[in-house]
Amino acid sequence: MAAIAAILSLLLISSLTPSSNALSNNYYDKTCPDAESAITDAVRKAIGSDKTVPAALLRMHFHDCFIRGCDGSVLLNSGNNNKAEKDGPPNLSLHAFYAIDNAKKAVEAMCPGVVSCADILALAARDAVTLSGGPTWDVPKGRLDGRVSKASETVQLPAPVFNLSQLQQSFSQRGLSMNDLVALSGGHTLGFSHCSSFQNRIHNFNKTVDVDPTISPSFVRSLRSVCPAHNIVKNAGTTMDPSSTTFDNTYFKLILQGKSLFSSDQALITSQSTQKLVTKFASSQEDFYEAFVKSMIKMSSINGGQEVRKDCRVVN
Ligand code: HEM
Ligand SMILES: *[C@@H]1O[C@H](CO)[C@@H](O)[C@H](O)[C@H]1NC(C)=O
Ligand SMILES: *[C@@H]1O[C@H](CO)[C@@H](O)[C@H](O)[C@H]1NC(C)=O
Ligand SMILES: *[C@@H]1O[C@H](CO)[C@@H](O)[C@H](O)[C@H]1NC(C)=O
Repeated sequence: MAAIAAILSLLLISSLTPSSNALSNNYYDKTCPDAESAITDAVRKAIGSDKTVPAALLRMHFHDCFIRGCDGSVLLNSGNNNKAEKDGPPNLSLHAFYAIDNAKKAVEAMCPGVVSCADILALAARDAVTLSGGPTWDVPKGRLDGRVSKASETVQLPAPVFNLSQLQQSFSQRGLSMNDLVALSGGHTLGFSHCSSFQNRIHNFNKTVDVDPTISPSFVRSLRSVCPAHNIVKNAGTTMDPSSTTFDNTYFKLILQGKSLFSSDQALITSQSTQKLVTKFASSQEDFYEAFVKSMIKMSSINGGQEVRKDCRVVN
């Protein structure tokens, strides 16, 4: 009896839970067969006039998935009484929303109301990686768009000052492992960081030392020249790695040299198992690519959403 009651209540709960679509690689094969190529074209066009677009799209997708699942919540604009995610504090460098708008326009012209903004962002993030010289993969599709986006929820994102146990907690809450953490952190092979994101390591590190002793001294000098303790030039910062528009495994080599930017990057070599992975990815780009693809598919399958938005910036 108890078992039957349990099963019944499980059924009830699952019928009340917002629809969690099963994703599939051929989700739009019948309803919008040219969606993917239209999205790729839009992403390619955006990159053609702005080399910072791939990093922006990859990070946007990560932020989307970590708050309310991959439901396009990061794309919504603030409204009358609501400050949206994109206007929350960790929004530094979130940009290129227009690239998603353009992809959505192209797709809507072919098959109105069919392809979700969350799927467009997941596909655009994949294209961003591939068009930067990284791996390619099939993106499972069928995500739905959410109706809620709150700036206050961006505190749920992992912070660059996090240590390994904090990172582990943040990832495991979303069903992601330590292997996923290391592989996905490789996204930091692309893009740019503002001084504020690594300031904690180069000035006033703690009560006894001014600088994080795990950073290489030459790297500290160059970071401090761009990011002085006071009077930082607006938007000052540095590229994630010297090949910041190429998706490669340089990021992992830099960690081993004490040249990673964030405490959260450096943290990846503070346990034996994660250090082993960092070393593996530093010595084999192929191994990194393989792991990254697996973990991206996992991250981008975190559920959320109820509708297919008509305009990625506003709920229907
Ligand atoms: C592990 C936890 C993570 C933390 C703490 C973190 C933190 C950050 C921070 C602080 C920035 C710089 C923001 C700025 O100063 O402008 C940044 C940039 C970036 N992050 Fe992460 N991140 C994490 C994971 C990820 C993941 C999983 C991805 C994608 C797979 C990713 C992709 C990026 C990209 C591409 C940029 C550059 C953005 C641009 O140039 O527009 N990050 N991240
Ligand atoms: C980031 O958020 C701040 C408020 O915290 C807002 O003033 C700013 O416009 C936002 N920036 C972007 C690029 O959305
Ligand atoms: C990580 O940071 C948290 C919060 O500051 C702290 O409680 C914890 O002891 C730290 N863990 C390690 C391994 O340093
Ligand atoms: C400051 O950091 C150094 C290097 O990590 C460490 O040895 C020292 O114990 C820390 N001091 C304090 C007061 O936390």
